[in-house]
Amino acid sequence: MRPRYHYAPTANWLSDPNGLVWQDGEWHMFYQYNPFGEDWCHMSWGHAVSPDLAHWQEMPVALAEEDQTMIFSGSAVIDHVGSAGFGNDAMVAIYTGARTDRAHQFQCIAASNDRGRTFVKHPGNPVLDRTMADFRDPNVFWHEPSRRWIMVVVLSDENRALLYASTDLKAWAELSEIPTDDAPGHLWECPYLVELPVEGSGETRWLFKVDVLSGAPGSGALYRVGTFDGERFEPQTAWQLADHGDEFYAAIGWNDPRDRSGRPAWLGWMGNHAVQKHLPRQGWRGAMSLPRRLSLRMAGDGFLLVQEIEPTCRALFGNPEAMSLGQGPRPLAASALLSVRAGDTCHFAICDDAGRNLSCSLRAGQFQVDRRDPVTPQLDRTSTMAVGVDAPVSIWLDSGSIEVIAGGGTACLTLQHRLQGEAWAIRGEGRLDALYLASKA
Ligand code: FRU
Repeated sequence: MRPRYHYAPTANWLSDPNGLVWQDGEWHMFYQYNPFGEDWCHMSWGHAVSPDLAHWQEMPVALAEEDQTMIFSGSAVIDHVGSAGFGNDAMVAIYTGARTDRAHQFQCIAASNDRGRTFVKHPGNPVLDRTMADFRDPNVFWHEPSRRWIMVVVLSDENRALLYASTDLKAWAELSEIPTDDAPGHLWECPYLVELPVEGSGETRWLFKVDVLSGAPGSGALYRVGTFDGERFEPQTAWQLADHGDEFYAAIGWNDPRDRSGRPAWLGWMGNHAVQKHLPRQGWRGAMSLPRRLSLRMAGDGFLLVQEIEPTCRALFGNPEAMSLGQGPRPLAASALLSVRAGDTCHFAICDDAGRNLSCSLRAGQFQVDRRDPVTPQLDRTSTMAVGVDAPVSIWLDSGSIEVIAGGGTACLTLQHRLQGEAWAIRGEGRLDALYLASKA
């Protein structure tokens, strides 16, 4: 079963989003992709474009593995003034070249002058090399106050992230290190540093996010909020979790264009390196989360990350329909947006014919999803998060995934699942305040 409203490639392996960039009305999404099969191998950049962040069109592979060098994760920028020498408005991809023998990773660039359709790898690659085996995932943005490009990149195996600066995307000078403090878990991947609006204040703060491969709670997407002066990130909060499910990994954002509230959008890979290889084959493997708009909310003396599903995705859904549970099982379309009213207590299970099920419960401000899969027991997992009682819980259900957004966007829980069929059964106690069926759009 393919997702109805999430992006998945027609065939083969997909993982991290890469090179999220907007140009001339098109949202570009590149991503980790194996053009030859459903397993992690031959990493290249796949490509899709969207006019609205809701409808996606798959494009040919943008950057392919070559000379025993895979194309690992990275970012892309529009170089309006042609600072790198590839012409005004060139789209420049900044990615990790990863030797297939795993001995060496280094940062490279490639340029496109035809709106991301074709890229030419820079003959002077690599542009940044520490002759290390685990040095990857460059995320680059333009910093207007210091008028230069800033890169955040990880020394994965050392759980460290470094900042670099450049005026031409080719020569990079080391600036500083992101404070690590007591970050849980091991192996840092896919860092992201971005300035976000603080709700209702006219102020901004900076978010640093990094994914931790193992030993961190939930999805492993850890974040801190602080300041960035063009040289150094100074955290003002402890580590927090961007998503409490098992599968929201490697998220990065489109830093521009922002919406009217100054919010950028990001999305993550709804997969997990520990379980992906156990999933039964179906011709393709891996899907992206919905894009989410990002802001910060003051909480006590700190800040919380707020994620709101991109409003254009809500427009994919039809009219609400109230549903009372407790009258025996009833059919549920495989793509639905369910909502539980603030403060309600509710328990329900969504099942397919093979006995796979997602049991959800909201009680005393805690939301829990229990995922059980008799066909792929590696997926069995219980995920819980505090959601408070003041805001509704929205449950975005699709073939392959469930995304729960609560606490007014401060609590998110993303999981993949393998429920089969066009419709499932739902049974439980309580009331789902609304059910929206996906329109034919
Ligand atoms: C995260 C990651 C990145 C790496 C890429 C390789 O999922 O391991 O660190 O660049 O995937 O596919």
